[in-house]
Amino acid sequence: MGRQRTIVLLLGPPGAGKGTQARFVGALLGIPHVASGDLLREHRRTGTALGRAAQEYMERGNLVPDTLVIDMIVERLEREDATRGALLDGFPRTVAQAQALDARLQERGDVVGGALYLEVPRPILVERLAGRWLCSGCQATYHVQFNPPAADNTCPVCHEALYQREDDARDVVENRVEVYLRETMPVIEYYRTRGALHAVDGDRSIEGVRARLVHALGGAVHGTRRPRWHLFVEYTATDGGTADGRWLGRTLCGKYVGRLPPRDFGAVEDFEANPCRLCWRALRARQPNQMEAPDPSDAVGSSL
Ligand code: AP5
Ligand code: MG
Ligand code: ZN
Repeated sequence: MGRQRTIVLLLGPPGAGKGTQARFVGALLGIPHVASGDLLREHRRTGTALGRAAQEYMERGNLVPDTLVIDMIVERLEREDATRGALLDGFPRTVAQAQALDARLQERGDVVGGALYLEVPRPILVERLAGRWLCSGCQATYHVQFNPPAADNTCPVCHEALYQREDDARDVVENRVEVYLRETMPVIEYYRTRGALHAVDGDRSIEGVRARLVHALGGAVHGTRRPRWHLFVEYTATDGGTADGRWLGRTLCGKYVGRLPPRDFGAVEDFEANPCRLCWRALRARQPNQMEAPDPSDAVGSSL
């Protein structure tokens, strides 16, 4: 029997930090980052029929019609790199899209594994979008104040030129937030009632939000050899780590996490107060790498 795909959603208002966090989370889970907005902008850039149809909606900050977006995402999830799953950013944005996604996943025995919801107050969103710059090469996001690019206004990672999005103009941003409240808040409730929602405080530093996302996908665990906290994500060993693959997760510093009694789990604040330095460094990496499979002999708290 094939393993279930890992489908994780990254939800939140415009400017919440979805794109900023997505690459890290995707790399951590070993799944591609699929952003409906990025895909639509690519269609516009290459002048496809979909791109032309989407243009007027996007320029005004309105949603592109459901059927167009659903077909685009379904097609994207069928590509080779999504066989293990995907991290969806900006989709679903309406209840109709959420239902279509569920129906589609159900056909293959998959489900939405979790919906990460970045909560950010409205005035902060406007401030973030007004100062945003994006890389034309690697799509990395920067901010004049909160995450400055290189001094010559190029991307510090791939050295390409940066640009600003036309829909980040203040009046369009206001409309995008209105559309979000009207169309997408019900999607948040949709996943909340299904028990899949993980609300995360998005009004923190970029690393602080990252730590909370990782914690939502796993937790914090206390080291056995050194009195430090590690952050881990859930992980099923597929590489024969144990006879039955029963590991709870793997830490950011690359250790397996065995079965632990509940008292060994901590809050994200425990990690922040006394972090494993390697976990902390992984959290701050500008360009996260795909995590390698950890060494099973080097497990944290292997009370297995
Ligand atoms: P889309 O591209 O998805 O835009 P959005 O949802 O409005 O979200 P943004 O990309 O603007 O914000 P983000 O959360 O990614 O923030 P970021 O990480 O960049 O959609 C665009 C359009 O496409 C839509 O309006 C619609 O027309 C169409 N569309 C897309 N999907 C659709 C769908 N499913 N259905 C129908 N239509 C669809 O961060 C923002 C800034 O803040 C950056 O400068 C960043 O550096 C900074 N920042 C991030 N985190 C922090 C932090 N913790 N502290 C300080 N600054 C931070
Ligand atoms: Mg984005
Ligand atoms: Zn770049």
